[in-house]
Amino acid sequence: MSQGKNADALKNGALIAFPTETVYGLGADASNEKAVARIYEVKARPHNHPLILHIASMDEISYWALDVKDYALALARDFWPGPMTLIFNRSAHAKDFVTGGQESVGLRVPDHALALDLLQECLKIGVHAIAAPSANRFGHVSPTTAAAVHEEIGTYLLPDDVILDGGSAHVGLESTIIDCTGDAPRILRPGAITQGMIEKCTGLTVNETSNSNIRVSGSLEKHYAPNAQIILDVQATAGQGFIAPAEVATPQGAIRLAAPTNTDEYARLLYAALRDADSQGLITIAIIQPSGDGLAIAIRDRLLRAANGR
Ligand code: TXA
Ligand code: MG
Repeated sequence: MSQGKNADALKNGALIAFPTETVYGLGADASNEKAVARIYEVKARPHNHPLILHIASMDEISYWALDVKDYALALARDFWPGPMTLIFNRSAHAKDFVTGGQESVGLRVPDHALALDLLQECLKIGVHAIAAPSANRFGHVSPTTAAAVHEEIGTYLLPDDVILDGGSAHVGLESTIIDCTGDAPRILRPGAITQGMIEKCTGLTVNETSNSNIRVSGSLEKHYAPNAQIILDVQATAGQGFIAPAEVATPQGAIRLAAPTNTDEYARLLYAALRDADSQGLITIAIIQPSGDGLAIAIRDRLLRAANGR
């Protein structure tokens, strides 16, 4: 089905929750201040937290961004559509109400047929980007299915808003966020596009020093969190939820929520497993983290934040 109708709805100010390969987003026309304001209301998200602008292709970078570095174009060419958000200096089109008042703007081309169709239909009618955070209430677990979107925000939507169903997200973890405003790329949030991939593509060493005051809401202490308390790298006791690589046996009486056989599967299953724990009313989830680098770094990043501050 073509997304022309939904593009019209978006242009008229409706919110559209849509699938991507990472997690589901809650979208609004990035140039419509009122519609964008409703995203913050529905999510109960603080207003100074910037939104990622989803674009149809890298051709739209120049509409939203200034001073685009060559290495950033190389990244866009290699990894878009894909699970990567690039941060640029903003153009005059990127208003304070999407950047949280910052001078930078985050852009991403998602790798999902439905999302790309919607973005292309939007572009035809002059909507240059869909501003979209993950479609969960602030601080909660990101939704990886349409059903999870309903559960998170369904009651806060209006009759003209839409939740699109594009199946389960293939990656299951939010995009890698890369600050491209400096002389070398800097990872603000790890994801499926890894440091090794970035360095191979750009020929540059990823900048590890924190040289700017760019805010990333995922950097808050408690984030990506279910209602249940998460405890890391301890065996579950009876009655507790348990998530661990498949080779780790389930302790007696524990409730196994996921048994991924590799890191990709771990990422894909994690958020649904956390939701499952909440729907079963579990109080505690013991999680054995994946080892290694690459995507495992991103999984451990989210788990640490989900376990914190409870
Ligand atoms: O995979 C994803 O990135 C998903 C899907 C829907 O695309 N989106 C997502 O959005 O995770 P959200 O808002 O939940 O997290 C986006 C992160 C936030 O932590 C925000 O602070 C950061 O991106 N961000 C957005 N624009 C930024 C900017 N201009 N500078 C620094 N960080 C920015
Ligand atoms: Mg989020």
